[in-house]
Amino acid sequence: MPGIVVVGAQWGDEGKGKLVDVFASKADMVVRYQGGANAGHTLVVNGKKTVLHLIPSGILHPDTTCVVTSGVVVDVFGILDEIKGLKNNDLLQNPKQLLISDAATVLLPSHKALDAAREASLTGEKKIGTTGKGIGPAYEDRASRRALLFGDLFDRETLRAKLELHLKEKNHLLETLYGQEPIGIEGLLAQIEQVARELAPYRCRDTSHVISKALKGNKRVLFEGAQGTLLDIFHGTYPFVTSSSTLSGSACIGAGVGPTQIQQVIGVFKAYATRVGSGPFPTELNDETGEKMRQNGREFGSTTGRARRCGWIDLPALRYAIRLNGITNLALMKLDVLTGFEKIGICTSYKLDGETLMEPPVTQADFSRVEPVIEWFQGWNQDLTKLTRLADLPRTATNYLDFIGNQLATPIDVLSIGPGREQTLWVKPLFNN
Ligand code: GDP
Ligand code: IMO
Ligand code: MG
Repeated sequence: MPGIVVVGAQWGDEGKGKLVDVFASKADMVVRYQGGANAGHTLVVNGKKTVLHLIPSGILHPDTTCVVTSGVVVDVFGILDEIKGLKNNDLLQNPKQLLISDAATVLLPSHKALDAAREASLTGEKKIGTTGKGIGPAYEDRASRRALLFGDLFDRETLRAKLELHLKEKNHLLETLYGQEPIGIEGLLAQIEQVARELAPYRCRDTSHVISKALKGNKRVLFEGAQGTLLDIFHGTYPFVTSSSTLSGSACIGAGVGPTQIQQVIGVFKAYATRVGSGPFPTELNDETGEKMRQNGREFGSTTGRARRCGWIDLPALRYAIRLNGITNLALMKLDVLTGFEKIGICTSYKLDGETLMEPPVTQADFSRVEPVIEWFQGWNQDLTKLTRLADLPRTATNYLDFIGNQLATPIDVLSIGPGREQTLWVKPLFNN
């Protein structure tokens, strides 16, 4: 049962997409288990960039089955666009490559409209800075047991009845609370029916069964997390979080497999830290060093294009992520971005009211007050992006990595030194058995 979870250990955008694409060459199946099109996972192969939002990052490998499970909120218009984009590039030629669960939640334009209206109604520091993809409202519908499920799209009567109920409530909110235009049922129904016809080849009644069978048959199954640990709905920096659980445990819930099926949890993190949207970020650099990181790392959102906030690596937050996810192995991404910094900071602990904290404090009020304790390391000027051997890393980079590995007491198995698939240095190969 080689089930491996790949999970974001920071605030999202750690490079999960790249890593999953690299691993997927040896995987039989890649499974998305939570989130929706708020995710933006970037893959670069032979210099060509593909950004995926809902489709798992194994899709560039024709022999890898990609599964979208019931834990995901599926923007049916969005996923169809993604499918068409891939097909136009001679990818996803065989519909068997992609399975969408009948039990996945359908995300509709009304969810996006509500998400946008709510954000617009908040002011200043109260704004969450969502991606505007309708994620919160879609998960609300799931929790309140009124969501349309993917399987409903293929039953005319159920679809109409559920959509009527849905629009009755959403239009009331949109019109009376937010002063927005209502959404008409006939036009939307016709659009959904058209989309359903085009998505029918990808329909799968029971993805949990398909995944369990693969695991039982000793197939290699990767579970691809979206967002990151600190954005988790229960354990993140609430309310500045997303609306799903982003932790590794969520792979079991979202995909419908037992925890005993998971063999390894790989935590993905950048050599520094970024966050997009509001909320506490202790090591944030609002200066030219932060700007240099943003430019060197091209830290602009894959989904929204927003500038990402940048700062030094935060070990207390990473210790928390390792604990909450049960991370067994780490993948350190974007080491190349730190080339050219004379001194590199590592946040080793926080100070709060004279006390030293090795992990984030429990309350958000406290988290937003912590002072990062920074240790300084000498940087390097060597371009790392073309290295093919670990032994060729500059000594100062090795010192930096060794310090992080020791502090986190978890092996760093993979190093990434550029966005390309080949710009990956293996400390220890995955799936080596
Ligand atoms: P994800 O959401 O975790 O999949 O990450 P994103 O794709 O949103 O953001 C990561 C960005 O960094 C993308 O533009 C990747 O192409 C890029 N990237 C990934 N790994 C590396 C790396 O090692 N070095 C550099 N320079 N860029 C990388
Ligand atoms: P990937 O999978 C980074 C952030 C948003 C906002 C908060 C809530 O690419 O790492 P939402 O639209 O989910 O209601 O927004 O969560 N956010 C992400 N930040 N990477 C992501 O996904 C994110 N998905 C959501 O910026 O702060
Ligand atoms: Mg991203």
